[in-house]
Amino acid sequence: MFKALLIEKNEEGQQRVSVKQLDEAQLPDGDVTVKVDCSTLNYKDALAITGKGPVVKHFPMVPGIDLAGIVEVSSSDEFKPGDAVVLNGWGVGEQHWGGLAEKARLDSRWLIAKPDAFTAQQTMAIGTAGYTAMLCVMALEQHGITPDRGDILVTGANGGVGSYAISLLSRLGYRVVASTGRPQEADYLRQLGAQDIIDRKALSEPGRALAKPRWAGAVDSVGSHTLANVLASTQYGGTVAACGLAQGMDLPATVAPFILRGITLAGIDSVMRPKADRIEAWRRLSELLTAKDIDAITTTINLESAVETAALLLEGKVRGRVVVTLD
Ligand SMILES: NC(=O)c1ccc[n+]([C@@H]2O[C@H](COP(=O)([O-])OP(=O)(O)OC[C@H]3O[C@@H](n4cnc5c(N)ncnc54)[C@H](OP(=O)(O)O)[C@@H]3O)[C@@H](O)[C@H]2O)c1
Repeated sequence: MFKALLIEKNEEGQQRVSVKQLDEAQLPDGDVTVKVDCSTLNYKDALAITGKGPVVKHFPMVPGIDLAGIVEVSSSDEFKPGDAVVLNGWGVGEQHWGGLAEKARLDSRWLIAKPDAFTAQQTMAIGTAGYTAMLCVMALEQHGITPDRGDILVTGANGGVGSYAISLLSRLGYRVVASTGRPQEADYLRQLGAQDIIDRKALSEPGRALAKPRWAGAVDSVGSHTLANVLASTQYGGTVAACGLAQGMDLPATVAPFILRGITLAGIDSVMRPKADRIEAWRRLSELLTAKDIDAITTTINLESAVETAALLLEGKVRGRVVVTLD
């Protein structure tokens, strides 16, 4: 038997989430069984747990798009019992039982070896949010946005993606401007490396097709009017890496920034990202982040607190990242 957070739906379509003891025989198919050390709460996990977004594709479902643990049983050539592994995405916690459980059975192609530089707990403190922030930074680099080009805007600054984007960009020598709805967290954002802080209200209302050019590039986890305004205020030849929808999934923009300022909108998906890119992103994270950086961003909870914390996360009351320990 093992402990898991289980999302169930009754015949009336009402969702119920509770910590349950499950039998290993109930685990889905897979060539690797992992003893999970820890998982985490991402925005998507919070949508799944609260039922506020159509994340879960079938019920019952164990949520958790990230996990870190030790291989217990394996028929894969790539991993053997005792190997420390990490998983991000691939539809786990959406269509395949995920990481918020003491055990997971998985397709070995979804796993990567745990980077030596991090403990299992640290990999989950980074999680999909930190790995996605790294992919966003890599997209800016690939489009030639070097630190000398000017300021980089990070929206959703206090969130998981935002916090890591600030930390990574500042470590790479960029001058970072953080956009937030929580000015009371200014000290935290400055500690991560933000040089300036702006009120997110300046970006969240409908704006002009083109505005004063301010940013050489941006990492946006917010979408909607915010992303439209970020595009409108990006300098000639700049790049905006878009990964999120915390304000909304719409994009009420015009083509003006693309055709008059040559702006690039780089879409970032972490879920189905090919394995080679994941390994490269985790290698860069290992190079750039210290234990102190990770600690500054992270709080730790147990499985029993996950439901309550998921609701707080969607209310914008969680700062940085949340690790869920299963040990
Ligand atoms: N594309 C991918 O593969 C991928 C991967 C990871 C995450 N994501 C997406 O990226 C987004 C952020 O994820 P996360 O894990 O960092 O979530 P998070 O920790 O909840 O952070 C989201 C942040 O967005 C800001 N925010 C919230 N509501 C807002 C609103 N109505 N208007 C403007 N800003 C708002 C808040 O920052 P402030 O309080 O500082 O304003 C909040 O902390 C989510 O939409 C998530 O689904 C996508």
